[in-house]
Amino acid sequence: MSTSIFARKSVADCEAEVSHGTGLRRTLTKWHLTALGVGATIGAGIFATTGTAIVGDAARPGAGPAIVFSFLLTAVACGFAALCYAEFAAMVPISGSAYTYSYAALGEFVAWIIGWDLIVEYAVGNIGVAIGWSGHFRELLSHVGLSMPAWLSTDYRSAHDAFNAVAAGATDAPTAFLASAWSAAPRPIGFPVIVNLPAACVVFLMTIILVRGIKESASFNNWMVILKIAIILFFIAVGAFLIQPSNWNDASLGGFAPNGFAGVSAAAAIIFFAYIGFDAVSTAAEEAENPARDMPFGIIASLIICTVLYVLLSLVLTGMAPWKQLGTPEPMITALQLANGPPVLLNASRFIIALGAVIAMGSVLLVFQMGQPRIFFSMARDGLLPPFLAKVHPRFRTPWVGTIITGTFVATFAAFANIAEVVDLTNIGTLFAFVLVSIGVIVLRRTDPDRPRPFRVPGAPFTPLISVAACLYLMLQLPRVTWIRFGLWLAAGLVIYFLYGYRHSVLRTGKRVVVDELK
Ligand code: ALA
Repeated sequence: MSTSIFARKSVADCEAEVSHGTGLRRTLTKWHLTALGVGATIGAGIFATTGTAIVGDAARPGAGPAIVFSFLLTAVACGFAALCYAEFAAMVPISGSAYTYSYAALGEFVAWIIGWDLIVEYAVGNIGVAIGWSGHFRELLSHVGLSMPAWLSTDYRSAHDAFNAVAAGATDAPTAFLASAWSAAPRPIGFPVIVNLPAACVVFLMTIILVRGIKESASFNNWMVILKIAIILFFIAVGAFLIQPSNWNDASLGGFAPNGFAGVSAAAAIIFFAYIGFDAVSTAAEEAENPARDMPFGIIASLIICTVLYVLLSLVLTGMAPWKQLGTPEPMITALQLANGPPVLLNASRFIIALGAVIAMGSVLLVFQMGQPRIFFSMARDGLLPPFLAKVHPRFRTPWVGTIITGTFVATFAAFANIAEVVDLTNIGTLFAFVLVSIGVIVLRRTDPDRPRPFRVPGAPFTPLISVAACLYLMLQLPRVTWIRFGLWLAAGLVIYFLYGYRHSVLRTGKRVVVDELK
């Protein structure tokens, strides 16, 4: 048995274990791959985090109307990283996540770090999606005559910030509503009780659905892609009539780029969240008809489609209302509240956007909430996490224990966390995974030059190096507190690895973990 923490799992072993990892048919065309990318990408990032990126917060400046440049900057960084991801994914001929590939390609220790890091991408990311979902759900309820008190549908920090903004003179309706959470919250022991109930409830609902079992289906994804593109085009079309060009260049608010390149870069690091998911294309490498041609096409095409939609949307958004007032978790709804236009049109549009956003974000929640327990499952099967995480439900054949643990973790934090903080943590974790994957491409070209590569990153090693630099640059734009939180997360991961994974690793101890097959 190997005792090295850098021991690599053989590809044959991976194939034997990943029940669905062999014999996948090569049926996906370049357009299927593009749809996969767009479907996984459009969600809370564009619907919910754009507000903070435009306005900024206590930790960083906002981009203002120059947010369009942030979307372009991040798209370029993502493009380089995505090409690296594709080489990595296509080279290890098994389906799965970066965790699985890296175990075979880079060894156990790096695989552990990536697996631990993916928890940040999937589970912590989903906390952000659930919070974004909640704001749009509350808006939807208001259209059917149901109102939810603010203290039951936001978080402590948002309420406190809004309360201070109102005290400083803010009078707009969205801020006043959030501030009401602070003033109206019950205080049984003197401390305001502020809970995001819809965010927690939707996660519990998804957890129940996932324990009972559901399959990812291509037709469901296609419908979601159509819905997401339609809802964004709808906003762009309606918003185009509501633009007041003075909003783009209001001298009293600092003009088009009120905080210059610093604001654009800080916002780029936030809206990176809106691009997470395009890496899903690379996980389908094994099912692509022609990976060498179709993978880069699918990745680049989905990135271009999302970028064009995001750029147009952000231009319209910042033209509809003064950018300073868009800093809510529902910026499109807020813009429609503040815009000058026929009330019937504005009201109907808010309803349509809220409905579309709730469905679109619901689909992202489901996919990520399904992904996390499967990563736990793979890690537990390898002996790196306790075997109960690989328990399969006798009737539903789902990884039910991991699903319930994920659901409880995500729901609890969704009830209390602030979306900007959660998004920052997700972004730093995902960018770090991209850095490791990009470095992995360079390392493997040297250590394993003969392994067949159905897709090769053009311009290596420069392209992977640019990817590393671009991802590090975006990471550096995130607040210090995010670095500290991420550092603590990684440190906790190392402790768990050396206390548990290192001693129980199947690869090094040779003791297999007996698991059932998943559905
Ligand atoms: N890109 C995904 C979203 O925006 C994570 O919801």
